[in-house]
Amino acid sequence: MKSMKKMRLGVISALAEEQQGLIEAMQSPYKLVHGMREYMAGQLWEIDAVCVLSRIGKVAAAMTAAILVEKFEVTHIVFTGVAGSGDAGVQVGDIVVAETLIQHDFDASPLFPRFEVPLTGMSQFPSDLALSDRLAAAAQLFLRVQFDDALQEAEKKEFGLQGPRLHRGLIASGDQFIGKRAQVLQLKEALPPLLALEMEGAAVAQVCFELGIPFGVIRTISDNANEDAAVDFMRFVTTVASRYAFNVIKNFCHLSMA
Ligand code: ADE
Repeated sequence: MKSMKKMRLGVISALAEEQQGLIEAMQSPYKLVHGMREYMAGQLWEIDAVCVLSRIGKVAAAMTAAILVEKFEVTHIVFTGVAGSGDAGVQVGDIVVAETLIQHDFDASPLFPRFEVPLTGMSQFPSDLALSDRLAAAAQLFLRVQFDDALQEAEKKEFGLQGPRLHRGLIASGDQFIGKRAQVLQLKEALPPLLALEMEGAAVAQVCFELGIPFGVIRTISDNANEDAAVDFMRFVTTVASRYAFNVIKNFCHLSMA
């Protein structure tokens, strides 16, 4: 099985704040610059890893994933970041681990069904089960054991974080920041199982599917993808999401593959 071979892990995030702690924790780090990105290679808690910022959007994420595989020879990819909620039961501060991913702005109809990536016959790309199980276990450990101490009471209060939960299911990606309730409702109507909305995961999913690389996507919910979505977005990323990502990846590295 692909997931069982010795891991060289690619860790992608969209924003610097989401990866700062990991870079600082890296053992024997060295930097390589390629295609306008800095790739930091080294060890994360004994795991051979390459960390990189994709920047925002599907093309940026696809390029980063492809370079990680082709030039840096990673065997597995994990994308960590934030997302807007795509379901009333998914709250700010919850974590979503993707089971499948879809490009919600892909529409080549009437030539192909809406959402289908032409000539692949696919609209939803599944993440790797073993990698996603391991991400989910890492996230559960964080939420159940470490969350309380990882954030100050004032920070939990500021963002209304109360007993955050883990969800697994459909994540949708598109080249838009969703900031209108009407947009979410339309997407939810077209994709009822939708849990979270972001701008990169499904692009990484397509690249990894085409290259045969196991991947996982984990997202902290930063906003409700409504009119308030942009308010305090960066503060959430800096104070909350950065600590989620750091602890979850640390747990992930310590856990053995299921
Ligand atoms: N990432 C975080 N929040 C988002 C939103 N509302 N839309 C798209 N991507 C996001």
